[in-house]
This record gives sequence, C-alpha cells and structure tokens, in this order.
Amino acid sequence: MAFAVVLVILVLGSVLFHFLSPWNITPIASNWGSIDVTMLITLVITAVVFIAVNFFIAYAVIKFRHTPERKAQYEPENKKLEWWLTLGTSVGIIAMLAPGLIVYADFVNVPEDAHQVEVVGQQWSWSFRFPGEDGELGKSAIEHISTDNGFGVDPLDGAGQDDRLLTSNTLVLPVNRPVKLLLRSKDVLHNFYVPNFRVKMDSVPGQVSYQWFTPTRTGDFEVLCAEYCGIGHFNMRAFIKVVEQQEYDDWLAGLPTFAQSLKKEASEKLSVKAEKGMQVAQQKGCMACHGFESSPAGPSWLGLYGSTRVMKDGSEVVADDDYLKEAILEPNASVVKGYAPIMPKLELSELEMESVIAFIKERGNETDPEHQQGTDAGKASGAELAQSKGCTACHSIDGSRLVGPSWQGIYGSERTLASGETVTVNDAYLKESMFKPNAKMVEGYPPVMPPSQLSTAQANALIEYIKSL
Ligand code: CUA
Repeated sequence: MAFAVVLVILVLGSVLFHFLSPWNITPIASNWGSIDVTMLITLVITAVVFIAVNFFIAYAVIKFRHTPERKAQYEPENKKLEWWLTLGTSVGIIAMLAPGLIVYADFVNVPEDAHQVEVVGQQWSWSFRFPGEDGELGKSAIEHISTDNGFGVDPLDGAGQDDRLLTSNTLVLPVNRPVKLLLRSKDVLHNFYVPNFRVKMDSVPGQVSYQWFTPTRTGDFEVLCAEYCGIGHFNMRAFIKVVEQQEYDDWLAGLPTFAQSLKKEASEKLSVKAEKGMQVAQQKGCMACHGFESSPAGPSWLGLYGSTRVMKDGSEVVADDDYLKEAILEPNASVVKGYAPIMPKLELSELEMESVIAFIKERGNETDPEHQQGTDAGKASGAELAQSKGCTACHSIDGSRLVGPSWQGIYGSERTLASGETVTVNDAYLKESMFKPNAKMVEGYPPVMPPSQLSTAQANALIEYIKSL
C-alpha cells in the first residue's frame, strides 16, 4: 500500500514540477516554432505513457496484493492484449518520429532568398565571413590558413577579395530575413547552437555543413558550442545581435574586406615584390609548415635569410638566394639537421620564387620588433585578438580563475613555475608563453595551452592589451 502511495505522489510531483519549474525553455526568436511543437508532442506522449504505466503499477499493487486465499494465475500468452500493446506502441512511436521528419525536411530546405554567412569554429572561438558586393563567398581551403589569413580564403580567387570578415564574437543579423549559416571548422568537431532560434548543427573539419533560420525578434541571443571540443569548450561562446535591416547594412559596411585585412596584416615595410611573395606563400601552402614565430613543421623563416644552416651531413650552408632557391626546387636534396625530408616539390615560376625569397628576407629579418609596437596595433585590436584567437576562453580579464591564469594584473607580477623557479611576467616571458606555451608552466595549471598562431604585430598587440589590464 505504502509503495503505491509513494508511486502516485512521485508521478503527481513530476507533473507539478513540469508546470512550476523555473527551467522553462527560452522564449523563441525564430521561425522554428514547429520544432517546439514536435518537442511538445514527444513530451505529451511520453508523459501520458509515464503516468499510465505508473498508475497501472500502483493499481496492480493494491488490486492483486497477497491474500492467503488467492493463487496467482498462469497466463503465458494473451494474443488480444499483445495486439493492443503492439498497436499502441507503434502509433505512439510514429506520432513521435513523423513530425520530426516533416520539420527536418524544412530544416534542410533553405529558402532561395536566404542570405549567406559563413561560420568558422576553432578552439575556442567563432569567426564569421560575409559575401561582399558580388554576393559570393570566395573559395577557401585549409592550406591557405595562416596567421594573416585566419579564414583560409584563397588569395587568388577574385570572389573572395570583397568578402567581409568578422573576428569578434558578436554576429549581427537582420530581423525577418532568412539566413543560411555555412559551418566550417579549423580543428576539431564543434557545434553551433543558438537555443533561442532552436537551431543546432555540427561544424566538421574538412566539410561544410549548414543550417538556416529567420530571426523574428530583435535583441541579443547567446551562441553555445554544443560539442565537447577540448578544455576551453565550456567557454566557446558568441552572441547574435538581431537588428533592423538598415542598421545591419551600416554595420556590415564597416567590416574590413579580405583584401583590406591582408594589407593591414602585412608589414608596412614590405616591398611590392615581398607582398606578392606573401600571397604566393599563402597560395602554395608554405605557411602550413613554415612561419615566423610558430613554425609547425619546417624551419622557421624568422631570421632565416643570411643565417648559417647546419645540414644533416654536418656541412654548413649560408641561407642566401641560391640556397633558398635550391631548397624550394629540390627540397629534399639536402635537409637541415633535425627536420624530416617531407617537403613537397613545388611548381613555382622564376618570378614567384623571387617574390617568396623577398618575402622571407624582408619579413623574417625585421630586426627591430619596436617598429610595429604601438602603431595601429593598439589596445582595441589586442582585445579583439584575445577574442578571435580564442584566448579568452581560458584566460579571464577580471581576475577570475578559468582554465589558465587570469590576465588581470599579470604583467610585471612574479610567478612561481611548476619547476619551482620564479619568473617576472614581461614581454619576453609572455611571448614565450604564446609560442611555446608549455615550456614554462605556472604552478597549479595544467599544460594544455595550444601554441598560438600569431604574427609579431599581433603578439605585440596582445601584450599591450595584457599590460593595460
Ligand atoms: Cu567548440 Cu565545444
């Protein structure tokens, strides 16, 4: 008897909790009311079954409770009952699945008048690209991704030059206009989830997935990454600000185009030839393995030109034009000590070759790091970089402890390392922490920070920003 009463109380309590619970779903702000309806149908069906099954158990416990006179009945098969149960279950499951299929057909059928926005996920931030005047997104590929070209836009594709780039985490969208989000990932699985819009889709490295919706209310809505993607996952957020069309147009016009951003990132000191070389190096995929600070697979280009290289066989060579030319044409003829002979042969014209060498020479041998400091790379862009490069997923700026040390007041402070040594946080220490993050670990933090993809100017801007906190 007591068991039956407890069961009934539990069921009534669950139903009551559903109606009184403070954890209601967020108010809807898109066209996807039909998704809420399918959820409601599933909820009602499972609730009815839940209540019916539990009440039946309570009823059976009381009705068939043990008395000395009664004997259990043996009934191994009841065809009629089995038919009813099979039929009832089938109808229930169809009623739960069918609405989902109907809505999903809508979800994958994008309206023709939808405008496009590309979303790029990386550990642990989101960035966005808009087609320019031509209404077309330029081609992009993983081999074009470098510190200066975070989206990997093909620098030689005409359609990409006017694409507008947004590297802050607040995406602005016009109200009442369908939008198709094209999702890409630079590293691992992420998932672009906007609870208020009821949309959610994986972004998968190596392919482009999509989702569409029409924002129906102006306001600010939060974006969450809904796929575990590493230690900063919990903080991989963004915001969508829905505004009137006019406000959106003005905002979009203020974003830099891809062509402008390449120019801005390129050092002002580069000659025309070296700038062309930079484009070639990006186009041909050199920057996938070589860089100026972080150099993922091959020798760094920083200070390479004119330096003396020790080859595998022990001989020494000066890295001049001839040497670089040979290294590009016959990459594995003689390999620098410590590197694997894995560089692919490239087809470069004489002019392309010369420009790449000019680029390596000019960019890699800028001996005074001061000249870029404090120019256009001020505090604002440092704050932007912190966000777009994903730093803020793990480092707070208000002193609170996340995955990594907070940046507030960090500059100039003394830190105790895991090795027991102490260091003063200065420019050199911060730079080392960015490019070789796990070389000197501060005590009490796990060695989980990925090496940063930053140019010298970007690193300096970040340091300026950290100083200001
Ligand atoms: Cu990105 Cu979780």
